[in-house]
Amino acid sequence: MKIEEILERAREELRPGEEERERLGRVAKGIMEKVEEIMERKGLEGEARLGGSYAHGTWLSGQADVDVFILLEPGVSLDEEGVGIALDSARGSRVEIRYAEHPYVRTEVDDVRVELVPCYNVRQGAWISAADRSPYHTEYLLKRLDDEIRDEIRLAKAFMTSIGVYGAEIKVRGFSGYLIEILVLAYGGFHELLDEVITWRKGEIISPEPLNVDVGRFHKGAPLIVPDPVDQRRNIAAAVSNESLGTFILAAERFLRDPSMAFFRGRPQPLTSVNASHLAENIVVVVFEKPDKPGDILWGEVWKTAKGFAAYLNRRGFRVLRYTATEDSYTISIAFLMETTRCCRLKTRKGPSVFMRDARNKFVEARVREGNNVVWVGEDGRLYSLSPRLETTAGEALLEALKMPVEVAGAAKGLVDTLKRTSRVFCGWETVGGGYKSMWLSVLGVSTGHA
Ligand code: UTP
Ligand code: MN
Repeated sequence: MKIEEILERAREELRPGEEERERLGRVAKGIMEKVEEIMERKGLEGEARLGGSYAHGTWLSGQADVDVFILLEPGVSLDEEGVGIALDSARGSRVEIRYAEHPYVRTEVDDVRVELVPCYNVRQGAWISAADRSPYHTEYLLKRLDDEIRDEIRLAKAFMTSIGVYGAEIKVRGFSGYLIEILVLAYGGFHELLDEVITWRKGEIISPEPLNVDVGRFHKGAPLIVPDPVDQRRNIAAAVSNESLGTFILAAERFLRDPSMAFFRGRPQPLTSVNASHLAENIVVVVFEKPDKPGDILWGEVWKTAKGFAAYLNRRGFRVLRYTATEDSYTISIAFLMETTRCCRLKTRKGPSVFMRDARNKFVEARVREGNNVVWVGEDGRLYSLSPRLETTAGEALLEALKMPVEVAGAAKGLVDTLKRTSRVFCGWETVGGGYKSMWLSVLGVSTGHA
């Protein structure tokens, strides 16, 4: 199929139908009335405003959430009054307080997810909370979007979802819905966006509006700079990592060369049909139970722990080439791609300078007491000895570290309990079983759609 035929078919698949629009409309209307009624009853000044992809008309069919912003006057507390209004409006359905920069409420009405986000009603630029810009985003987009560009935005969102880079949260460090809306708007279409993305340089600056601040200077070092049209000093691509940006570039290149519907429906096929199972031996996976806490906190801890374990393995003489982490409903898995999984028969111990008489003698005597007479002076003038140790595997080293994960391997404190209680380590061929296939494709980056 030609690229334009594929895009047209995808547009049709992703566009919400009439029934869905009506159902969301009913839910949105109901909850808005509820919020305003409760504000009035509490005697609080403010208003409810629809925001996010529902208000912009850019949600993916079947994946909508309705974002309702509760605009309050500066001076009242978002954490107390704001969340109070949200909770009262949501009463009766499945309700949950969630935490971003400040708390908000998530609930479900007629199978539709609703997010009630308190924020302040302020002049443009006089932001108090991070959510205050959102009503301005909606105002801006409603002026600039038409139905054609909405289809293009949906293509981009589905593409990013399928290659695993949709979302600004810490787990993904990818592209937020609003960032995608602005990128597509800047280039005028999805195909146009892909044509440009493959030419991007590091620190590329993209804006649908003429720039009136020196944004390059503000955001030096950022891989991608997209000034927020409602506040040009803010980079709405600030969360995007080199890895997710690069994954997008590779996938764009692939799609343009070999387009397929798979890019809008889930994980695209691996780059080639390489059978990577000869690499299985070099993979080690730590699996543990997923603790119940907010996603950004959990994933901050998971990435810290993964990085700590990798550094620990390297210190122990194993070489970690790459690591990644994934989750399912109940577990977190951290996978390591190793250059070496066995190490090390010999290890040197570094002693004092040979010119430090007391320390020198102590060092030598201690070695002799151990029955170890291999001691030499290095080029740096320090004493060295060999400390023999049993060869170990990376798996054994990890099991050892998991007894004291924070002290030994720099794991996040918040995960100590679950790591100690529930961790299991799988090595080499043990990781080939069905459940881990996508995990090690992802640690290998084979699909360019790593999780
Ligand atoms: P959402 O995270 O709900 O995203 O943010 P969305 O654009 O509605 O996309 P989906 O369809 O739910 O996945 C709602 C609003 O919050 C602000 C934006 O104004 C966005 O429209 N927001 C959210 C940001 O500015 N940056 C972010 O990283 C997240
Ligand atoms: Mn949303």
